[in-house]
Amino acid sequence: MKRSLKKQLIHLATLPFKSVGIVHYYWGHGKLGGDPIFAALLDEQIFPSDARIIDLGCGRGLLAAWFLAAEKLFLDGGWPADAAPPPTGLRFRGLELMGREAEAGNRALQPIYPGRASLAQGDLRQADLSQLDVVAILDALHYVNYAEQDVVLDQIRAALGPGGLFLTRVGDAGAGLRFFLSQIVDRSISFVQGHRLPRMWCRPIQEWVRILEARGFEVRTQPMNGANPFANIMLVAKLPGHPGEHTGNPARIG
Ligand SMILES: C[S@@+](CC[C@H](N)C(=O)[O-])C[C@H]1O[C@@H](n2cnc3c(N)ncnc32)[C@H](O)[C@@H]1O
Repeated sequence: MKRSLKKQLIHLATLPFKSVGIVHYYWGHGKLGGDPIFAALLDEQIFPSDARIIDLGCGRGLLAAWFLAAEKLFLDGGWPADAAPPPTGLRFRGLELMGREAEAGNRALQPIYPGRASLAQGDLRQADLSQLDVVAILDALHYVNYAEQDVVLDQIRAALGPGGLFLTRVGDAGAGLRFFLSQIVDRSISFVQGHRLPRMWCRPIQEWVRILEARGFEVRTQPMNGANPFANIMLVAKLPGHPGEHTGNPARIG
């Protein structure tokens, strides 16, 4: 993504947070500006149009803010012709342990994008995973223990229909010093945000791939650190098949 488009998107995506609180606004700037995953998700057209997405551990809802801003720019005619067009019609649900963050996201996004983003306080281990096409867990799965991760992955597998998508980012516990550095940063941010310093439940990337493949996902991994010397890996885990192939879950990814 070109710098000028990224700058425009950061401006559009964070503007709704200005009236909610200056801390939220600047947090959004820092996160969207410094984390390469947001631009990558657009560039690589990871989300199909009209997908119903749940973002578990959603924080203030920056993933939703980013994609809804991209759609707005696109529909307003400001999207550059040489950039991959963004998905349209996405609907986001978010679940976040910290109620004040979910509330801030709702106050920012709902007046501008009615019906498109709804964040709630809650625990990702108790998420309602009905009626969706995509599950995203960015940098949050390691807060729950191994047995609970397994249950969450089982629930995600059961909720997604053919062609369904699970997007996650994890730290690669097999990456030595780079993993150690990313742990320090992650724990510091977590502490600043008001969490106790929790134990983190990380796995080497091969193990993440293995447990997802064991559940039937086709998995692609991609380092996602930007300029930082960290060990963060994005996993794009897709169920084979096409939406609507079975009648259990009305997945609609096209
Ligand atoms: C590192 S932040 C990532 C936030 C967001 N996914 C992003 O990429 O901007 C991790 C988030 O997960 C949330 N979290 C941790 N444990 C959780 C749980 N059990 N259920 C829901 N959210 C949780 C934290 O409160 C925090 O907002």
